[in-house]
Amino acid sequence: MSTVYLNGEYIPKEEARISPDDRGFLLADGIYEVTPFYDGVPFGMDRHMARLLRGLCWMRIDYDTSGLEAMHRRLIDENGLAGAPTSMVYLQITRGAAPRTHYFPEGPVEPTVYAYAKAWSRPSEERWNQGFTAATVPDRRWGRVDIKTICLLPNAMGFQDAREAGADDAILVRDGVALEGAHQNFWGVFGGTVVTHPTTNHILPGITREIVLELARGEGLPVAERPIYTEDLRHAEELFFTGTTGEVKPVVEVDGRAVGEGVVGPVTRQLAAAFQARVDATCRAAATVAG
Ligand SMILES: Cc1ncc(COP(=O)(O)O)c(C=O)c1O
Repeated sequence: MSTVYLNGEYIPKEEARISPDDRGFLLADGIYEVTPFYDGVPFGMDRHMARLLRGLCWMRIDYDTSGLEAMHRRLIDENGLAGAPTSMVYLQITRGAAPRTHYFPEGPVEPTVYAYAKAWSRPSEERWNQGFTAATVPDRRWGRVDIKTICLLPNAMGFQDAREAGADDAILVRDGVALEGAHQNFWGVFGGTVVTHPTTNHILPGITREIVLELARGEGLPVAERPIYTEDLRHAEELFFTGTTGEVKPVVEVDGRAVGEGVVGPVTRQLAAAFQARVDATCRAAATVAG
């Protein structure tokens, strides 16, 4: 039975109750964050919490985030995930429960804070080495997708469309630009340069994206943050996604057309290895502090 966190309490998931007046339920008036853990060690926690705080401020939800890191660690421990190779904590904060109005509640309302922990697994090495397929779908999202709100209907519809087209993942396209995946950032390698969309209001500023950008620069690879046009996809040497739980995920086919040679490319492999090395170093550093 899993233990979840709800409004200050650690309780069995079966006992968690959320009001039907909750503005997250009625209006998608909330925000979420997913923080990965490797061998029970948080990875990129400060960055995830900073992104959450930025979103809360923008949404004008007044919530003190200072206890969240300890809450994450406790959920991992209480759910027996301290030894799990890969796990995560999902956290959602909504504006709270109040009679339904389109404007914000007039009186003070406590935000609803809910979190759970679970293990996730990587694709097998063999599966990863085959690479993944993607389909381009229209981006039907609003103009502030840099805020990680729980309003994910357009992402879900895009992903579903891609799956129905027989692809593993979706690439969201707006005005001819392949912006990002339904839950991952999108990258290409063009003429040896590693390219990903700049952090505008049209993509989510992924934490994995930020880390992979640092790693790519550290590896001495040429890097450019610029739009990737759909018409350029056919000239890409390599394509890949990045995201929490997806890590560095190679794309070898888009809309039925092979990317480059149709195999996982060397830059994707180099960045995946660098990412793994960063994870290993984070775990080693945590073990040194604990020991
Ligand atoms: C639309 C979108 N883009 C990118 C990402 C990747 O972000 P991160 O690397 O922080 O997981 C996500 C993650 O949920 C996402 O939903």
